[in-house]
Amino acid sequence: MDSNKRPETMTRITTPELAAAFIDEQVAAVKAQVGDKKVLLALSGGVDSSVVAALLIKAIGKQLVCVHVNHGLMRKGESEQVIEVFKNQLDANLIYIDATDRFLDLLAGVDAPEKKRKIIGGEFIKVFDEEASKLEGISFLAQGTIYPDILESDGVKAHHNVGGLPEDMQFELVEPVKLLFKDEVRVVGKALGLPASMVDRQPFPGPGLGVRCLGAITRDRLNALREADAILREEFDNAGLNKTVWQYFIAVPDMKSVGVKNDKRYEGWPAIIRAVNTTDAMSATIEEIPYALLHKITARITAEVEGINRVLYDLTPKPIGTIEWE
Ligand code: XMP
Repeated sequence: MDSNKRPETMTRITTPELAAAFIDEQVAAVKAQVGDKKVLLALSGGVDSSVVAALLIKAIGKQLVCVHVNHGLMRKGESEQVIEVFKNQLDANLIYIDATDRFLDLLAGVDAPEKKRKIIGGEFIKVFDEEASKLEGISFLAQGTIYPDILESDGVKAHHNVGGLPEDMQFELVEPVKLLFKDEVRVVGKALGLPASMVDRQPFPGPGLGVRCLGAITRDRLNALREADAILREEFDNAGLNKTVWQYFIAVPDMKSVGVKNDKRYEGWPAIIRAVNTTDAMSATIEEIPYALLHKITARITAEVEGINRVLYDLTPKPIGTIEWE
């Protein structure tokens, strides 16, 4: 039987009971596969790698070594949440690497989007590889492959994703959720006790804020983007829009306009809000955000974020606009 094919008889996991049964089954399978050997996992904090981490911690505890690489392009609080949940709450064997300077130094002055993606993806592999080679006795590599990745394995996602690992890594793979769809991964994650803020996360591109800090990334503009994005997320959470909007974020272009603040000329960047709905990310429509909320977000961002003096709402559907700005 092709182990990469989901059996037609496999029940869709929709309830905590079905999730519990799946977890028991996978815990046994992982134990049988791994024995007393060590497993390495690149833990980005995204839904798939987080669920795999929680599942493997349950199965093999400290035999799992998680490596979280902070490329400096995470959203506000993300790396902190990975440490809090996995190290502090689940007592995982977690190696945290703050590689912010490495990434931002390499990206300095680079404005072509695909070049930025290549640098981020390439450097991620390098950092992970360096870390892996310091560890001894690793026999397996765990991955958060899910069923759509297998169905779409035309290389698109592999190209796209920062999590892509070097092909010459000589490890046997552990992929416990590879036959699951995203909604099932979320149900399993909840049953494993992961916080809703982790398992219900909106999609977030591998190159992170790197493709939202448009053009050549600078630390000050990246910080402004991160703070503005945190305000947008907080306000969407408070308004319940996190449950209905598929993806929402801020992009900050590399341009300034004039404004006034405290009776003085204040030049700043615009923060562009994008909030879209879609089923497959191939086309997308624009969410109708209440004006009162847009005014509130505008007031907060312009008052609280250093360097931002305007807030814009992008009304462009896909096509013609892609979801990301670059
Ligand atoms: P676009 O901008 O192509 O985005 O309409 C469609 C979906 O793909 C995500 N996206 C990426 N995801 N690496 C990723 O892992 C990337 O380089 C990348 N670029 C876009 C985007 O966030 C949206 O969900």
